[in-house]
Amino acid sequence: MARPKNDTFLRALLRQPVAYTPVWLMRQAGRYLPEYCETRKRAGSFLALCKSPQLACEVTLQPLARYDLDAAILFSDILTVPDAMGLGLYFAEGEGPKFERPLREEWEIRNLAVPDPNVELRYVIDAVAEIRRALDGSVPLIGFSGSPYTLACYMIEGGASDDFRRIKTMLYSRPDLLHHVLDVTAQAVTAYLNAQIEAGAQAVQIFDTWGGSLSHAAYREFSLAYMTKIIAGLKRSHDGERIPVIVFTKGGGLWLEDIAASGCDAVGLDWSIDIGQARARVGSKVALQGNLDPSVLFGGSEVVAREARRVLDSFGPGSGHVFNLGHGISQFTPPEAVTALVETVHAASRAAHRPESKG
Ligand code: CP3
Repeated sequence: MARPKNDTFLRALLRQPVAYTPVWLMRQAGRYLPEYCETRKRAGSFLALCKSPQLACEVTLQPLARYDLDAAILFSDILTVPDAMGLGLYFAEGEGPKFERPLREEWEIRNLAVPDPNVELRYVIDAVAEIRRALDGSVPLIGFSGSPYTLACYMIEGGASDDFRRIKTMLYSRPDLLHHVLDVTAQAVTAYLNAQIEAGAQAVQIFDTWGGSLSHAAYREFSLAYMTKIIAGLKRSHDGERIPVIVFTKGGGLWLEDIAASGCDAVGLDWSIDIGQARARVGSKVALQGNLDPSVLFGGSEVVAREARRVLDSFGPGSGHVFNLGHGISQFTPPEAVTALVETVHAASRAAHRPESKG
C-alpha cells in the first residue's frame, strides 16, 4: 500500500477532513537533539552524514522516535544540488555553507549543466528509498529542494550573505545572466524532485528562504516564475497517490495570492503573518503550513502551549492546516519544548475537527 497508516499530513495538504491538525517541524532532525550530535560525530561531518544513505536514514528517524510527529523529512541539504553542479560545497566551522567555485565569471555561468539526479545525487535518492523502507508505512516522507533563487544566492555569493550584493548586482546589471542561472537550476530542481518522488517521497517542499529579500516585482520575475515552472514539471502522482507540493517563501506573506496561484497545494508561512488572515485570503485555494515563531520554544512549556493554541485558534475549524514553525528549529531549542508543542497541537486541535464544528 502506498498510503501510510497515518495519512493525516497528506489529507490536510489536500484539504480533506482530518481528526486533528498534523504537525512536523522544519529542520526537525538537527543539532538540538543530542542523538543527532552523536551520529554526526560518528560520521565525521555534516556532509558525510548527508552522503551516507544509512546515516541519513538514521538521523531522519531520530525525531520520530522521540515525538509523535505526523511526517518525516528527508535528511539532506538544499545545497547538494549546486554541489552536484560542480561548485564544491563545504562547511567552514562556525561560518555555515560555502562554495569552492562560486559563479563569478560569465563563462562559468554559460558552462553550468543539469546534473543527472540518479548519478550525481544518487546518495540522496538512495537515502529516500532507504527511509521509505525504514518508515514501513508509518508516516509520510517529505522530499525537498531549494528554490532556484535561493540556490542562486549561495551559488553567486559563495556562501551566506547579509546584503546579497553580488546576486542583486547581477539581477540589475545582467538580468540575462541571472535568468540563465535560474533556468538551468530550475531544470536541475525539477529532475531532482521527480527522482525523489520516484524513489518514494510522498510530498515535496520547495524552500525559498531568500525570495523574501526581493522587491515586489523582482520576486515574481526571479523567484516565483521559476518555482511555478518547476511545479508544472513535477510528477503529481505516483503509485496511484497524489503528491502534494508545498511552497515556503520566507517573508512571502505580502504575496500570498500570487504564491497560491503557482500550482502548489500548500503555502508555508513564516511567523510574521496571522494565519487566520492568510486563510481568509487564500484558504479556498490551498492548504497552509505554519507558523509558530521558532523562538516560542525558548519560553517554557506553558508559553509553548499558549502560543500553539493561538495559531490553531487563528486558523479556526476545518481542514487545510499543517502545523509547523515559521522557519527551521533553532539548535538551542530544549528538546522537551518540542514534546509540549506536539502534544498541544494534537490535543487542542481535536475539538476543532469534530464533524459538527467543521469550518
Ligand atoms: O528539515 C529537516 O530536518 C531536513 C534537513 C534540512 C537541512 N537543511 C539540514 C541541515 C533541510 C530541509 C535544510 C534546508 C536548508 N539548508 C535551507 C532552507 C531552509 C532554511 O533553513 O532556510 C537552507 C538555506 C540551507 C543551507 C544551510 N545548510 C545553512 C544556511 C546551514 C547552516 C545553518 C546552521 O544552522 O549552521 C546548513 C547546514 C545544515 N543543514 C544543518 C542541518 C541539520 C546543520 C549542520 C550541522 O550539523 O552542523
